Amino acid sequence: MTAPRIAVVGCGYLGAVHAAGMASLGFDTVGIDVDAAKVEALAAGSAPFFEPGLDAMLRGALDAGTLRFQTDAAGVDADVWFVCVGTPQQPGSNAADLTYVDAAVAALVPHLREGMLVVGKSTVPVGTAERLAAIVEPTGARLAWNPEFLREGLAVTDTLAPDRLVYGVRDGDDASVAALDAVYASILERDTPRIVTDYATAELVKVSANAFLATKISFINAIAEVAEASGADVVQLADAIGIDARIGRRFLNSGIGFGGGCLPKDIRAFRARSIELGADEALGFLDEVDRVNQRRRDRMVALVERELVAAGGGSVAMLGLAFKPDSDDVRDSAALEVAMRLAATHDVVAYDPEASAPAARRAPELRIADSLDAALADASVVALGTEWREFRDLDPADVATRTAARVVVDGRNVLDRDAWSAAGFRVVAIGRPDRDPVTTASHQEATA
Ligand code: UDX
Repeated sequence: MTAPRIAVVGCGYLGAVHAAGMASLGFDTVGIDVDAAKVEALAAGSAPFFEPGLDAMLRGALDAGTLRFQTDAAGVDADVWFVCVGTPQQPGSNAADLTYVDAAVAALVPHLREGMLVVGKSTVPVGTAERLAAIVEPTGARLAWNPEFLREGLAVTDTLAPDRLVYGVRDGDDASVAALDAVYASILERDTPRIVTDYATAELVKVSANAFLATKISFINAIAEVAEASGADVVQLADAIGIDARIGRRFLNSGIGFGGGCLPKDIRAFRARSIELGADEALGFLDEVDRVNQRRRDRMVALVERELVAAGGGSVAMLGLAFKPDSDDVRDSAALEVAMRLAATHDVVAYDPEASAPAARRAPELRIADSLDAALADASVVALGTEWREFRDLDPADVATRTAARVVVDGRNVLDRDAWSAAGFRVVAIGRPDRDPVTTASHQEATA
């Protein structure tokens, strides 16, 4: 089989990485996005968002001549058309907004013909693929659903070395399976598990995976509430239960909870779809998962306010605004929400290594410093919202010379509490007992 020519429709977090990834594997690839500014940036080898390794991969493929970008499908003759557009939450509803998916497929129809394959990668409510197949199949082309599990911040690795591939196809559609196998040949060579199934299962695999991950985070955050009420330590507890291989330690990091463009809206859309399907009670627990998650944001705001009062007022240095480290994405970011809520009634100066510009667009009223020192300078409370390496690696003794604050509220349970308290900070964490600073006298006592 000759190497398939590839088109990727939608060049956001998912599509831009997918297009660059496919082109870096040597496929002739066209990225298509209606946003001309995005197309221009990508064509110049610079993604309009921060994703480690992406610019290098883009430039490599652009230099090799395997990748180009354009604003529509005019003149594109692809064998495989990936649909990677967004499915955000509908305003005023929990359901997914399928406007972009529908528009993308409608725009492809005039270009489709016998032998071509349309591959949905967007996260969609179960039943969408079946509906879209009825639009695609009359052209002679086929449809497959191939959900994407990439994590922001690790998107390049996850695209080139995914831990599994899932193909949702029509029963007996061996041609679509073969076309996908040709695209993913180098990945399959490494014995990557490949599951071939129907449309509905493929769609559900994706939303179930995200629902499970969100539930795992909210589980530990619910336990954190009980730990707070009982004086226990949720981090030690997570370490202890995580040793059981049936539970596993990953995604048991308690803190201000999950955010981003996927988990929050995906669990809401999944719940909404299950109700539409008549399975009203099946996913009721996801409402609770969402509520636990929101309560952790409330808790962080309350803890910072409590420490501000104890410090006699003053301002908060908010470290981190992105929804997670190694990303500049602030969609439904817990850190940004906490910063904005505090800033409504207090003096807040925030700092994030990469997310300042997107955060400023979402929260123009928020004061965002362009250096860590500027945020720390006049603070009386330091609050950690996103666990960037830059913050985890801080030497607390050094921080003590850069700020007057003597209390740190760790919203991600990542700071070394011994080191921070030894450097004179009171350490307040989510789901853990507070730590008072080690004063010289008590230190001497302890070591006497
Ligand atoms: C997620 C899924 O992991 C990925 O498979 C899917 O394709 C898209 O959605 P992503 O949104 O990039 O990926 O981030 P993820 O690493 O899952 O983190 C989501 C949120 O959960 C972040 O806000 C993170 O800070 C939070 N989180 C994660 C926790 O609070 N605790 C944890 O233990 C893990």
